[in-house]
Amino acid sequence: MHSTENCCLITGASSGLGMEFARQLAPSASVLILVARRLERLEALRCELLRPGLTIHCRQVDLANPGDLDRLIAWLSAMDTPLSFLINNAGLGDDGEFARSEWERVDQMLEVNIRALTKLTLAALPALRKQPSAAILNVSSIAGFLPVPKTAVYAASKAYVTSLSEALRCELRGTGIRVTAVCPGPVPTEFKEVASRRHEKTKSLNPPPFFKTPAQKVVRDALAAVAGDRARVVPGWYISAVLSLAATMPMPFVRWALTRRAKE
Ligand SMILES: NC(=O)c1ccc[n+]([C@@H]2O[C@H](COP(=O)([O-])OP(=O)(O)OC[C@H]3O[C@@H](n4cnc5c(N)ncnc54)[C@H](OP(=O)(O)O)[C@@H]3O)[C@@H](O)[C@H]2O)c1
Repeated sequence: MHSTENCCLITGASSGLGMEFARQLAPSASVLILVARRLERLEALRCELLRPGLTIHCRQVDLANPGDLDRLIAWLSAMDTPLSFLINNAGLGDDGEFARSEWERVDQMLEVNIRALTKLTLAALPALRKQPSAAILNVSSIAGFLPVPKTAVYAASKAYVTSLSEALRCELRGTGIRVTAVCPGPVPTEFKEVASRRHEKTKSLNPPPFFKTPAQKVVRDALAAVAGDRARVVPGWYISAVLSLAATMPMPFVRWALTRRAKE
């Protein structure tokens, strides 16, 4: 077992990628801390994954609620086993025009995608520093590479996650703490459903099946990137190829294409 995997905290473990992180880490970890609002799902996952030698803690936390987040941080600091692997995975989107956003949804997105991730990372550092080998994995998105009309705040929040991860990686060099950002393209999870605005009939971009990367592959690639101490990873060769092509486009052309998308 890699020492990074001794004690892992996964936010957003009740669904999609978070659940898959738990499944792939369970065979090698000794402690898993599963965090989300839907406790019954975390407990079902706990029953599925429990084996001798593995302790699983389920913590019902609304990461958009500062009080809940502080209680999680206090609980973590009182834990016997110090954290060795923090996976900031919880996140949500909001599809549609910025001008028609509901502030409550925008605020929740900023709280979970940015504030909670940042505060949890800062709070975890003292425990991570105590380990001979530790890691932080931030789940970002390809949406963070470019501005994305009709999911503008989400894309901007993921640009923050990628940027923060890269800067922390530089600052933490030589401390034994590795930092990686995983930037998936579309993954079939509950994400799209949560991001869609029920009261609006916005045409949400539905990528063709070959554009989607299964959660299992995203998580496998992300964990391999952590093990290989890579700064960032874009799972799926097709998405990587499209991104590499997009990176060669001149910015005025990109703006023109994005404006067309915004007006569709
Ligand atoms: N699916 C994609 O296409 C895609 C692409 C690129 C990046 N990502 C990123 O991947 C990460 C995981 O998303 P997913 O695709 O697995 O979506 P998902 O199936 O909707 O899962 C999201 C997870 O985040 C948790 N969460 C949301 N709001 C929360 C809150 N206020 N407090 C605590 N937990 C909260 C949810 O748990 P509860 O609802 O139980 O609280 C759930 O476990 C996100 O950061 C997302 O931005 C997804």
